[in-house]
Amino acid sequence: MNIQDLIPKWFRGDGVGKAGGRNHLLETGEGDVLYYEQFRALRSKLEYKADTLGWKVVGVTSSVSGEGKTLCSFKVAASLASTKRKRVLLVDADIRKADLARGLGVPIHPGLTEYLRGPLSLKDVTRKTDVAGLFLVPPGTAVSAPADLLAGERFHVFVAEARKEYDMVLLDTPPVLPVADTMAMREQVDGYIFIYRAGFTPFSMFQKATEEIGEKKILGVVLNGVEPVSEGHYSHYYGQYYTSAPGREKGTGG
Ligand SMILES: Nc1ncnc2c1ncn2[C@@H]1O[C@H](COP(=O)(O)OP(=O)(O)OP(=O)(O)O)[C@@H](O)[C@H]1O
Ligand SMILES: [Mg+2]
Repeated sequence: MNIQDLIPKWFRGDGVGKAGGRNHLLETGEGDVLYYEQFRALRSKLEYKADTLGWKVVGVTSSVSGEGKTLCSFKVAASLASTKRKRVLLVDADIRKADLARGLGVPIHPGLTEYLRGPLSLKDVTRKTDVAGLFLVPPGTAVSAPADLLAGERFHVFVAEARKEYDMVLLDTPPVLPVADTMAMREQVDGYIFIYRAGFTPFSMFQKATEEIGEKKILGVVLNGVEPVSEGHYSHYYGQYYTSAPGREKGTGG
């Protein structure tokens, strides 16, 4: 393996990624052992929290757009499903963008918004993915004010149903600062994996967004796009994802 092989293809900008067309999320990082190792580490931390604190419904969020939420939520969910220990539901709760559904080549509706508006069951809006044990609820038809729907009683019912059916539920959410959607879901979510793309997002925005979510609800921060310097000699070569998951109690609010 030469050193260039340690850099995921999507990072090199050579055609795999959003511009890579259908199902690009499945292809991202394909064959890259070290890249997958980063998600395995994050998965282990998440499983530990899930098992010890009973966290089951976890959002993936960040301060602003383009920090890696969609990519991370898919990779962690796929990594969890691959253990065959857990039935995993991934929810494309970024209703405005639908990037997860698009990236997995799954129809966008019926999905979450249809469930939230009508009498559909969870089964009616859940799709299989190409990853065994991983299921997806696509976002559904676009609505003008997703935050209003997400703050409603039906979202509460949706999460309760998902908790019953699955071992782990991961939500790909919109960024915290530009829109109210992620805050609208907050009460139903046990905690968040928070992505921070250093060198891309001003630190002041990260501070503001994490304050809004509340420290107790943050499972850990994924530093995306940062090479770790304090994790030993070899970590320098470990690629773009460095996870730090400080111990947090299950949030009760605030
Ligand atoms: N560390 C990185 N370096 C370069 N490109 C990256 C990195 N992380 C993610 N990307 C790419 O940046 C783009 C945005 O990633 P992604 O869609 O996962 O972000 P997001 O936080 O979900 O964005 P949005 O808030 O707009 O939905 C994608 O094309 C992804 O492949
Ligand atoms: Mg996204």
